[in-house]
Amino acid sequence: MPPKDTFDSPAYRPTARLLHWLIAALILLMIPAGQIMIVKGLPRGLQDALFLFHKNAGVVIGLLMLVRLGFRLRYPPPPLPPSVAPLQARIAGITHALLCLLVFVMVVSGYLRVMAGGFPIEGLDALGVPDLMGRNPGLETVAKTTHAITRLALVVLIGLHIGAALFHALWLRDGVMARMAPRRSVK
Ligand code: HEM
Ligand code: HEM
Repeated sequence: MPPKDTFDSPAYRPTARLLHWLIAALILLMIPAGQIMIVKGLPRGLQDALFLFHKNAGVVIGLLMLVRLGFRLRYPPPPLPPSVAPLQARIAGITHALLCLLVFVMVVSGYLRVMAGGFPIEGLDALGVPDLMGRNPGLETVAKTTHAITRLALVVLIGLHIGAALFHALWLRDGVMARMAPRRSVK
């Protein structure tokens, strides 16, 4: 019989939770958008719209991740409930660090793939951010391959992460999910 949700573990700060869910929602949109936009024979208008969204939201994710990293360094996460074994906590920590790393690799490889391919990133162009790179077919290929391979690892890790979150929320009911729940006052 799983224990009742105790809710006695302190939650992440509201800013940390806001950033988590904003970035999570964007990434969960970016993955299907990326997959669909490269399908051959897609109507031109839809493909252009998906590329526009994917490239610019990708840059926004990168910036939000930097804010998140800064915030996390300033405000470390609250301690986990004692029901979480040290090894389990360590695995969760490694998974979270790996998730962040893979997101950064996706952002950088996506950016390099576009810039080295000589394509625009409309949001950055509108802000007057200069193109410091110019066309570079070798780099374009490396970045494209990195982007495609890393996305597989990211999808697997996100699957494990969501699975673990649901396991805590629905089976263990140990308050771990409540730490990151969208609405929760900080204890
Ligand atoms: C967390 C951030 C990102 C995620 C999760 C993501 C995900 C994906 C996925 C799943 C694909 C389809 C598979 C592939 O060919 O790689 C893709 C393709 C692509 N992404 Fe991203 N992406 C991200 C960031 C970016 C950024 C920042 C840019 C550019 C500014 C970008 C540009 C592209 C381009 C141009 C393609 C087509 C690749 C090709 O030529 O085949 N992505 N992305
Ligand atoms: C429906 C989807 C998701 C759910 C239910 C979920 C749930 C959670 C929960 C409950 C935590 C807190 C774990 C703890 O107590 O330490 C957490 C942390 C975290 N999640 Fe998610 N998550 C989701 C999607 C994502 C996505 C898409 C990403 C990024 C790729 C992500 C990255 C992270 C990271 C990096 C942390 C650690 C935060 C920190 O320690 O600063 N999550 N998530």
